Amino acid sequence: MTCHGESGAGDGPAGAALNPKPRDFTSAEFWAQDGVNEDYLKAVISGGGASQGKSPLMPAWGPFLGDDKVAEVAAYVQTFKPSDEAKAE
Ligand code: HEM
Repeated sequence: MTCHGESGAGDGPAGAALNPKPRDFTSAEFWAQDGVNEDYLKAVISGGGASQGKSPLMPAWGPFLGDDKVAEVAAYVQTFKPSDEAKAE
């Protein structure tokens, strides 16, 4: 919430000070990138940004959450993905 924002749009209060900014999960461009899939989400959430060549400011959650909860969080992040109808607008 502090970084990616309550609505997942990358606009949390702490995120404002970061460069690069926390990912906007509501952006269709993000989801359209090659390699952005469920396995990638789990890997970047578990291992943190640096593990996937992204910002080291994105923390690693695996040590705190374990694989099962990381998978649940990855599923939650996907709920911010815009629907196909929204993309067409
Ligand atoms: C459980 C909480 C969190 C989840 C599920 C999560 C998930 C993600 C995901 C899926 C990405 C996308 C990686 C990509 O762009 O390819 C990302 C990026 C990022 N996150 Fe998080 N995040 C969380 C918490 C945080 C927190 C607390 C911070 C700030 C301290 C943060 C900072 C960032 C930043 C800066 C990026 C952009 C990395 C880049 O473009 O290089 N995240 N996060």
